Amino acid sequence: MAHQGDALRSWVKAKTDQATREVLHQRLTGARVMAVTSGKGGVGKSSLVLNLALALAAREQRVVILDADLGLANINIMLGYEPVYTLWDVVEQRVALRDTLQAGPNGLRIIPGGSGITELARLDSVDIAHIIEGFQELEGECDWLLIDTSAGISDSVLAFVLAADEAIVVTNPEPTALADAYGLIKAVWEQDGRVALKLVMNRIQSRDQGVRLGNRLTDLAQKALGQPVEMLGQVADDPVVARSVLRQIPFYTAYPNSDATFDVGDLADKLLHRVPPPRRGGWGAFVKRLVENWPREIDRDPI
Ligand SMILES: Nc1ncnc2c1ncn2[C@@H]1O[C@H](COP(=O)(O)OP(=O)(O)OP(=O)(O)O)[C@@H](O)[C@H]1O
Ligand SMILES: [Mg+2]
Repeated sequence: MAHQGDALRSWVKAKTDQATREVLHQRLTGARVMAVTSGKGGVGKSSLVLNLALALAAREQRVVILDADLGLANINIMLGYEPVYTLWDVVEQRVALRDTLQAGPNGLRIIPGGSGITELARLDSVDIAHIIEGFQELEGECDWLLIDTSAGISDSVLAFVLAADEAIVVTNPEPTALADAYGLIKAVWEQDGRVALKLVMNRIQSRDQGVRLGNRLTDLAQKALGQPVEMLGQVADDPVVARSVLRQIPFYTAYPNSDATFDVGDLADKLLHRVPPPRRGGWGAFVKRLVENWPREIDRDPI
């Protein structure tokens, strides 16, 4: 009998271990959905998204960028191409999501959002299911969905952050940018305290400055809001960033030995080596949450 009891116990244990492993596997694998956002405009979101995507691609990661800046989509300009189709064409059922993908350098692919994102709110559930299917299909062949959002704490920006698995808040050392980054973190957590936020200090003059200002902001968030923001890292203020925008070649490719390239590589390494936050159901679930959170009255930025 004792022998049978042991066998039963080890069978139950093996099953439990397997179930735990499966849950862990689900939580830790699969394509990540990461929004890149900021309180203040012009702090370097689009430059970071594009070059971080290339740094991840150089580390064998398959990356899709969703260019979701509702005011001025910039990723295509930084790469020097005109989008053929945007998410708008998918919403209008002219093409499949896959047809909107623009091929960037090193296997990078970009979905130009265009006005398609603002139109998500008016779709019926059949149309939304169609878009969800498109994202789910792409997810199977990707490791990352990086989302370049607009700046600010409008409901539409918050919708992206609240729908993603995780988000990077970008700031620079200017007091206004730091204050706006804090305001954004607070606004996100007022809606959902579970969102995993990471901080990137861009345009730093020295490592000391980045660490000091980064710690000050993360400490303040912890003390005042009771939650940790992960300090992901920093990117040097580097003239190659502006030069690469002018040349329409990302600095990660055009200036491989620059400080900015080194720093963005370091951010990619940290993203790959630190334990990621749990996935929240994949890309389909992300689109579903985005549509649910999307403001009914869209606050369009003046163009
Ligand atoms: N690390 C850096 N060093 C020097 N210049 C930088 C750096 N990062 C960004 N810039 C410059 O800052 C400007 C704004 O960058 P970018 O367009 O990436 O910001 P953004 O946050 O996406 O702006 P927006 O809010 O308008 O979308 C660009 O001129 C870019 O060259
Ligand atoms: Mg931008």
